[in-house]
Amino acid sequence: MHQMDLPRPEIFDFHGVSMTHYFTDNWENVQNFKARPDDIVIATYPKAGTTWVAYILDLLYFRQTMPERESTIPIYDRIPFLEMVMPHYPLGTEMANTLSTSPRIIKTHLPVQFIPKSFWEQNCKIVYCARNAKDNVVSYFHFDRMEKLQPEPGDWTSFLQRFKEGKMVFGPWYDHVCGWWEKKQTYSKMHYMFFEDLVADTGREIKRLCSFLGLSTSDEEKEKIRGAVQFDVMKANPMTNLTEDGSLDFSVSQFLRKGKVGDWKNHFTVAQNEQFDEHYKQKMKSTSLQFRTVL
Ligand code: A3P
Repeated sequence: MHQMDLPRPEIFDFHGVSMTHYFTDNWENVQNFKARPDDIVIATYPKAGTTWVAYILDLLYFRQTMPERESTIPIYDRIPFLEMVMPHYPLGTEMANTLSTSPRIIKTHLPVQFIPKSFWEQNCKIVYCARNAKDNVVSYFHFDRMEKLQPEPGDWTSFLQRFKEGKMVFGPWYDHVCGWWEKKQTYSKMHYMFFEDLVADTGREIKRLCSFLGLSTSDEEKEKIRGAVQFDVMKANPMTNLTEDGSLDFSVSQFLRKGKVGDWKNHFTVAQNEQFDEHYKQKMKSTSLQFRTVL
Protein backbone atom coordinates (compact mmCIF):
# COMPACT_ATOMS: atom_id res chain seq x y z
CA MET A 1 0.00 0.00 0.00
CA HIS A 2 1.30 3.49 -0.85
CA GLN A 3 1.86 5.62 2.27
CA MET A 4 -0.64 8.14 0.91
CA ASP A 5 -3.34 5.44 1.19
CA LEU A 6 -2.65 4.61 4.83
CA PRO A 7 -5.51 5.41 7.18
CA ARG A 8 -4.92 8.35 9.53
CA PRO A 9 -3.63 7.05 12.89
CA GLU A 10 -5.70 7.14 16.07
CA ILE A 11 -4.51 9.24 18.97
CA PHE A 12 -4.31 7.48 22.36
CA ASP A 13 -3.16 8.13 25.87
CA PHE A 14 0.40 6.94 26.42
CA HIS A 15 1.63 7.35 30.02
CA GLY A 16 -0.45 10.50 30.24
CA VAL A 17 0.53 11.99 26.88
CA SER A 18 -1.43 11.82 23.60
CA MET A 19 0.53 9.88 21.02
CA THR A 20 0.12 7.81 17.87
CA HIS A 21 1.73 4.46 17.24
CA TYR A 22 4.23 6.07 14.86
CA PHE A 23 6.05 7.35 17.92
CA THR A 24 5.49 4.55 20.42
CA ASP A 25 5.99 1.35 18.40
CA ASN A 26 9.73 1.37 19.04
CA TRP A 27 9.46 2.46 22.66
CA GLU A 28 11.79 -0.09 24.22
CA ASN A 29 14.63 0.81 21.87
CA VAL A 30 13.97 4.51 22.43
CA GLN A 31 14.05 4.17 26.20
CA ASN A 32 17.17 1.98 26.09
CA PHE A 33 18.91 4.19 23.56
CA LYS A 34 22.62 4.50 24.31
CA ALA A 35 23.66 8.12 24.10
CA ARG A 36 27.27 9.15 23.57
CA PRO A 37 28.76 12.01 25.58
CA ASP A 38 29.22 14.14 22.46
CA ASP A 39 25.68 13.64 21.12
CA ILE A 40 23.80 16.88 20.46
CA VAL A 41 20.04 16.72 20.92
CA ILE A 42 17.63 19.10 19.21
CA ALA A 43 14.35 18.93 21.13
CA THR A 44 11.16 20.77 20.22
CA TYR A 45 7.40 20.65 20.27
CA PRO A 46 6.32 19.78 16.70
CA LYS A 47 6.36 22.77 14.31
CA ALA A 48 8.50 25.00 16.54
CA GLY A 49 11.40 25.33 14.09
CA THR A 50 13.05 21.91 14.46
CA THR A 51 14.29 21.68 10.88
CA TRP A 52 15.64 25.22 10.98
CA VAL A 53 17.70 24.69 14.14
CA ALA A 54 18.70 21.17 13.09
CA TYR A 55 20.06 22.54 9.82
CA ILE A 56 21.99 25.31 11.59
CA LEU A 57 23.56 22.71 13.88
CA ASP A 58 24.41 20.47 10.95
CA LEU A 59 26.10 23.33 9.09
CA LEU A 60 28.02 24.45 12.16
CA TYR A 61 29.50 20.99 12.60
CA PHE A 62 29.87 19.68 9.07
CA ARG A 63 29.65 22.39 6.39
CA GLN A 64 33.40 22.79 6.18
CA THR A 65 34.54 19.26 6.95
CA MET A 66 31.96 17.37 4.88
CA PRO A 67 30.85 19.81 2.16
CA GLU A 68 29.52 17.01 -0.07
CA ARG A 69 26.69 16.47 2.45
CA GLU A 70 25.22 19.72 1.28
CA SER A 71 24.20 18.41 -2.11
CA THR A 72 23.70 14.73 -1.42
CA ILE A 73 22.08 14.04 1.95
CA PRO A 74 18.67 15.46 2.86
CA ILE A 75 18.51 16.94 6.34
CA TYR A 76 16.16 14.14 7.50
CA ASP A 77 18.80 11.56 6.75
CA ARG A 78 21.53 13.55 8.42
CA ILE A 79 19.64 14.01 11.64
CA PRO A 80 17.72 10.97 12.89
CA PHE A 81 14.31 11.49 14.47
CA LEU A 82 14.77 9.32 17.55
CA GLU A 83 11.24 8.04 18.25
CA MET A 84 9.97 7.94 14.65
CA VAL A 85 8.62 4.69 13.23
CA MET A 86 7.81 5.56 9.64
CA PRO A 87 6.54 3.03 7.13
CA HIS A 88 9.26 1.87 4.69
CA TYR A 89 11.92 3.87 6.48
CA PRO A 90 14.62 2.89 8.97
CA LEU A 91 13.75 3.31 12.64
CA GLY A 92 15.01 6.54 14.20
CA THR A 93 17.03 4.59 16.76
CA GLU A 94 18.65 2.47 14.03
CA MET A 95 19.50 5.54 12.01
CA ALA A 96 21.13 7.09 15.07
CA ASN A 97 23.03 3.88 15.87
CA THR A 98 24.47 3.67 12.39
CA LEU A 99 25.39 7.36 11.98
CA SER A 100 29.04 7.69 11.19
CA THR A 101 29.39 11.37 12.03
CA SER A 102 30.75 12.71 15.23
CA PRO A 103 29.02 14.33 16.94
CA ARG A 104 25.67 12.81 16.16
CA ILE A 105 22.87 15.36 16.02
CA ILE A 106 19.62 13.74 17.11
CA LYS A 107 16.12 15.18 16.85
CA THR A 108 13.26 14.48 19.23
CA HIS A 109 9.80 15.83 19.98
CA LEU A 110 9.49 13.90 23.23
CA PRO A 111 8.30 15.73 26.31
CA VAL A 112 11.13 15.98 28.83
CA GLN A 113 9.90 13.13 31.06
CA PHE A 114 10.17 10.66 28.14
CA ILE A 115 13.79 11.39 27.19
CA PRO A 116 15.96 8.26 27.36
CA LYS A 117 17.92 8.44 30.59
CA SER A 118 21.29 7.89 28.95
CA PHE A 119 21.17 11.43 27.52
CA TRP A 120 21.15 12.73 31.10
CA GLU A 121 23.70 10.18 32.30
CA GLN A 122 26.07 11.14 29.48
CA ASN A 123 25.48 14.82 30.18
CA CYS A 124 24.72 15.50 26.52
CA LYS A 125 24.25 19.00 25.16
CA ILE A 126 20.63 19.74 24.38
CA VAL A 127 19.21 22.57 22.30
CA TYR A 128 15.52 23.21 22.93
CA CYS A 129 13.64 25.56 20.61
CA ALA A 130 10.23 26.91 21.65
CA ARG A 131 7.71 28.82 19.54
CA ASN A 132 4.86 30.99 20.76
CA ALA A 133 1.68 28.98 21.26
CA LYS A 134 -0.48 30.76 18.70
CA ASP A 135 1.87 30.44 15.74
CA ASN A 136 2.79 26.95 16.88
CA VAL A 137 -0.82 25.75 16.77
CA VAL A 138 -1.40 27.36 13.36
CA SER A 139 1.69 25.69 11.91
CA TYR A 140 0.67 22.37 13.49
CA PHE A 141 -2.81 22.66 11.97
CA HIS A 142 -1.48 23.14 8.45
CA PHE A 143 1.01 20.34 8.93
CA ASP A 144 -1.65 17.89 10.10
CA ARG A 145 -3.78 18.81 7.11
CA MET A 146 -1.02 17.68 4.77
CA GLU A 147 0.62 14.86 6.80
CA LYS A 148 -1.23 11.58 6.44
CA LEU A 149 0.77 10.03 9.28
CA GLN A 150 -0.87 12.49 11.68
CA PRO A 151 -4.41 12.19 13.09
CA GLU A 152 -7.24 13.79 11.14
CA PRO A 153 -7.05 17.52 12.06
CA GLY A 154 -10.71 18.41 11.52
CA ASP A 155 -11.49 22.08 10.99
CA TRP A 156 -9.54 24.97 12.52
CA THR A 157 -12.02 25.55 15.35
CA SER A 158 -11.95 21.95 16.52
CA PHE A 159 -8.17 21.76 16.11
CA LEU A 160 -7.69 24.83 18.28
CA GLN A 161 -9.98 23.33 20.91
CA ARG A 162 -8.00 20.09 20.87
CA PHE A 163 -4.76 22.06 21.23
CA LYS A 164 -6.15 23.79 24.33
CA GLU A 165 -7.17 20.43 25.75
CA GLY A 166 -3.66 19.13 25.13
CA LYS A 167 -4.81 16.26 22.96
CA MET A 168 -2.14 16.80 20.33
CA VAL A 169 0.49 14.30 19.30
CA PHE A 170 3.32 14.78 21.86
CA GLY A 171 0.85 16.15 24.36
CA PRO A 172 0.04 19.66 25.55
CA TRP A 173 2.23 22.47 24.22
CA TYR A 174 2.10 23.98 27.74
CA ASP A 175 3.56 20.91 29.46
CA HIS A 176 6.19 20.54 26.76
CA VAL A 177 7.64 24.05 26.79
CA CYS A 178 7.31 24.39 30.58
CA GLY A 179 8.62 20.90 31.32
CA TRP A 180 11.78 21.52 29.33
CA TRP A 181 12.11 25.00 30.85
CA GLU A 182 11.97 23.54 34.38
CA LYS A 183 14.61 20.99 33.48
CA LYS A 184 16.87 23.74 32.19
CA GLN A 185 16.91 25.30 35.66
CA THR A 186 18.88 22.31 36.98
CA TYR A 187 20.55 20.91 33.86
CA SER A 188 23.32 23.23 32.73
CA LYS A 189 23.98 21.59 29.35
CA MET A 190 20.77 22.94 27.82
CA HIS A 191 20.37 25.94 25.53
CA TYR A 192 16.75 27.11 25.49
CA MET A 193 16.00 29.27 22.47
CA PHE A 194 13.00 30.79 20.73
CA PHE A 195 11.75 30.68 17.14
CA GLU A 196 10.87 34.39 17.40
CA ASP A 197 14.48 35.28 18.27
CA LEU A 198 15.71 33.32 15.29
CA VAL A 199 13.38 35.29 13.03
CA ALA A 200 14.38 38.61 14.63
CA ASP A 201 18.14 38.07 14.45
CA THR A 202 19.37 34.80 13.01
CA GLY A 203 23.02 35.86 13.17
CA ARG A 204 22.85 36.61 16.90
CA GLU A 205 21.18 33.25 17.58
CA ILE A 206 23.87 31.43 15.60
CA LYS A 207 26.49 33.18 17.75
CA ARG A 208 24.68 32.13 20.91
CA LEU A 209 24.55 28.55 19.69
CA CYS A 210 28.29 28.64 18.99
CA SER A 211 29.11 29.85 22.48
CA PHE A 212 26.83 27.22 24.07
CA LEU A 213 28.41 24.48 21.94
CA GLY A 214 31.95 25.76 22.49
CA LEU A 215 32.55 26.21 18.77
CA SER A 216 35.10 28.71 17.49
CA THR A 217 33.44 29.12 14.10
CA SER A 218 34.81 32.17 12.25
CA ASP A 219 32.63 35.22 11.65
CA GLU A 220 32.84 34.62 7.93
CA GLU A 221 31.60 31.06 8.30
CA LYS A 222 28.80 32.13 10.62
CA GLU A 223 27.73 34.66 8.03
CA LYS A 224 27.66 31.99 5.32
CA ILE A 225 25.52 29.80 7.53
CA ARG A 226 23.19 32.69 8.26
CA GLY A 227 22.71 33.12 4.53
CA ALA A 228 22.10 29.41 3.95
CA VAL A 229 19.37 29.16 6.57
CA GLN A 230 17.19 32.05 5.37
CA PHE A 231 13.64 30.87 4.76
CA ASP A 232 13.71 31.38 0.98
CA VAL A 233 17.10 29.72 0.64
CA MET A 234 16.02 26.69 2.66
CA LYS A 235 12.76 26.56 0.74
CA ALA A 236 14.61 26.45 -2.57
CA ASN A 237 17.07 23.82 -1.30
CA PRO A 238 15.86 20.26 -2.00
CA MET A 239 18.05 19.01 0.89
CA THR A 240 16.10 21.08 3.42
CA ASN A 241 12.61 21.44 1.95
CA LEU A 242 10.49 18.40 1.38
CA THR A 243 8.64 18.69 -1.90
CA GLU A 244 7.76 15.08 -2.42
CA ASP A 245 7.21 12.48 0.20
CA GLY A 246 4.88 9.52 0.36
CA SER A 247 2.87 10.80 3.29
CA LEU A 248 2.74 14.55 2.71
CA ASP A 249 0.08 16.02 0.45
CA PHE A 250 1.60 19.13 -1.11
CA SER A 251 -1.64 20.10 -2.78
CA VAL A 252 -2.92 20.97 0.73
CA SER A 253 0.02 22.92 2.22
CA GLN A 254 3.80 23.35 2.09
CA PHE A 255 6.43 21.97 4.43
CA LEU A 256 8.31 25.27 4.66
CA ARG A 257 5.04 27.13 4.66
CA LYS A 258 5.42 30.78 5.76
CA GLY A 259 8.19 30.97 8.36
CA LYS A 260 6.70 34.08 9.98
CA VAL A 261 5.90 35.36 13.44
CA GLY A 262 2.26 36.40 13.82
CA ASP A 263 0.53 34.28 11.18
CA TRP A 264 -1.95 33.38 13.94
CA LYS A 265 -3.63 36.74 13.27
CA ASN A 266 -4.81 35.30 9.95
CA HIS A 267 -6.44 32.35 11.70
CA PHE A 268 -7.83 33.27 15.14
CA THR A 269 -11.17 35.04 15.27
CA VAL A 270 -11.47 37.85 17.84
CA ALA A 271 -13.48 35.56 20.13
CA GLN A 272 -11.04 32.67 19.73
CA ASN A 273 -8.19 35.00 20.56
CA GLU A 274 -9.84 36.32 23.73
CA GLN A 275 -10.68 32.83 24.94
CA PHE A 276 -7.20 31.63 24.11
CA ASP A 277 -5.54 34.46 26.06
CA GLU A 278 -7.64 33.66 29.11
CA HIS A 279 -6.82 29.96 28.88
CA TYR A 280 -3.12 30.72 28.28
CA LYS A 281 -2.88 32.92 31.37
CA GLN A 282 -4.29 30.15 33.52
CA LYS A 283 -2.01 27.51 32.05
CA MET A 284 1.15 29.61 32.28
CA LYS A 285 0.54 31.30 35.63
CA SER A 286 3.00 29.20 37.62
CA THR A 287 5.96 29.21 35.23
CA SER A 288 8.75 31.75 34.88
CA LEU A 289 8.90 31.02 31.14
CA GLN A 290 8.14 34.14 29.12
CA PHE A 291 7.60 34.38 25.38
CA ARG A 292 8.66 37.58 23.63
CA THR A 293 5.57 37.96 21.52
CA VAL A 294 2.70 39.88 23.06
CA LEU A 295 -0.46 37.86 23.32
P1 A3P B 1 5.16 27.69 9.39
O1 A3P B 1 4.22 26.54 9.22
O2 A3P B 1 4.59 28.75 10.30
O3 A3P B 1 5.64 28.27 8.12
P2 A3P B 1 9.36 22.15 12.27
O4 A3P B 1 10.64 22.10 11.51
O5 A3P B 1 9.52 22.01 13.74
O6 A3P B 1 8.36 21.23 11.67
O7 A3P B 1 8.79 23.64 12.12
C1 A3P B 1 8.24 24.07 10.92
C2 A3P B 1 8.01 25.56 10.96
O8 A3P B 1 9.28 26.24 10.94
C3 A3P B 1 7.24 26.03 9.73
O9 A3P B 1 6.47 27.15 10.17
C4 A3P B 1 8.38 26.42 8.82
O10 A3P B 1 8.03 27.26 7.75
C5 A3P B 1 9.30 27.11 9.82
N1 A3P B 1 10.67 27.24 9.29
C6 A3P B 1 11.48 26.27 8.86
N2 A3P B 1 12.63 26.78 8.39
C7 A3P B 1 12.54 28.12 8.54
C8 A3P B 1 13.41 29.23 8.22
N3 A3P B 1 14.59 29.05 7.66
N4 A3P B 1 12.97 30.47 8.51
C9 A3P B 1 11.76 30.67 9.08
N5 A3P B 1 10.90 29.67 9.40
C10 A3P B 1 11.29 28.41 9.12
